Amino acid sequence: MGYLETAAQFYTEVAKTPEVGLCCVQSTPLQLPGLHVPEIMQEMNYGCGSTVHPTELGNEPTVLYVGVGGGLEALQFAYFSRRVAGVIAIDPVPEMRSAAAHNLKLAAESNAWFEPSFVEIRSGDAFNLPVPDASVDVVAQNCLFNIFEPADLDRALAEAYRVLKPGGRLQMSDPIATRQIPLHLQQDERLRAMCLSGAMTYEEYTQRMIANGFGQIEIRARRPYRLLDAPSYRLDAHLLLESLDSVAFKVPIPDDGACIFTGKTAIYAGKESVFDDRAGHILPRGLPAAVCDKTAAKLLALLPDECIVTPSTWHYQGDGCC
Ligand SMILES: C[S@@+](CC[C@H](N)C(=O)[O-])C[C@H]1O[C@@H](n2cnc3c(N)ncnc32)[C@H](O)[C@@H]1O
Repeated sequence: MGYLETAAQFYTEVAKTPEVGLCCVQSTPLQLPGLHVPEIMQEMNYGCGSTVHPTELGNEPTVLYVGVGGGLEALQFAYFSRRVAGVIAIDPVPEMRSAAAHNLKLAAESNAWFEPSFVEIRSGDAFNLPVPDASVDVVAQNCLFNIFEPADLDRALAEAYRVLKPGGRLQMSDPIATRQIPLHLQQDERLRAMCLSGAMTYEEYTQRMIANGFGQIEIRARRPYRLLDAPSYRLDAHLLLESLDSVAFKVPIPDDGACIFTGKTAIYAGKESVFDDRAGHILPRGLPAAVCDKTAAKLLALLPDECIVTPSTWHYQGDGCC
């Protein structure tokens, strides 16, 4: 049996018998006015962060949700699209599709604004998304792509890119590893299915998004996720996993490379009132300007004594206060 079948078998089990806290980090789930999340849906929260970014979900977007789980985030996205099939949720595991359908029916009983038809559940997998090219505004996946081996992750990213409209967004949450996970853990199919041993490093994970065509990436959150302790996992030293929430935009990759925003700002501290790099960045003296990591490095190289770059905050969302 290959690792994808092991994963399907694992998710068949946890669809039938919910495993509370399987992937999620201890945090209050996203609260939205007028949204009631049924308890079973909360128990089946198998995500490691959030892919739902409320301030960017205006204009009733069409969302393709990959790996529906218990349906929690599909319901949260439907809160914004509020129309029939505004959310298309896919999953290859029949038991998971049934559980999600059941949970969404329950949600309709306690949410007057919600109809189960707002989420269309389809059979499908991340490598063969059952929608046409350039047809959706958002593709979202939570705690699924980390399970994939590198070549399969590339296939999944390329498929997400295919179905997004130009300018569309891939919204993901996944564990990442603070150093390379040793082979004996990577090859443990059950640990991989449990989102514990397939994680890549931050660098590899973001570079794969870029290699598959995404021209801009924004990091929305980065937090501790799980500790693989040395004795239990046969490691030389403890290995910390983090969870990373990101949004990758289907926009062309600039000639000088993709932009990754991690919350850095650049502050010009030279003699002039304004610094203009003639590449689209105008920095009034003393005022922080949000910059991507590439631009931050360029400005530091250009103005080593006249520019300050603040550290990554790991929660970039456009930033700025006026
Ligand atoms: C860790 S769970 C996450 C569920 C959900 N996203 C959440 O946040 O609760 C992974 C989900 O992906 C589904 N899945 C497994 N293999 C898949 C594949 N190849 N393509 C799409 N979904 C898959 C599983 O059945 C399960 O529903």
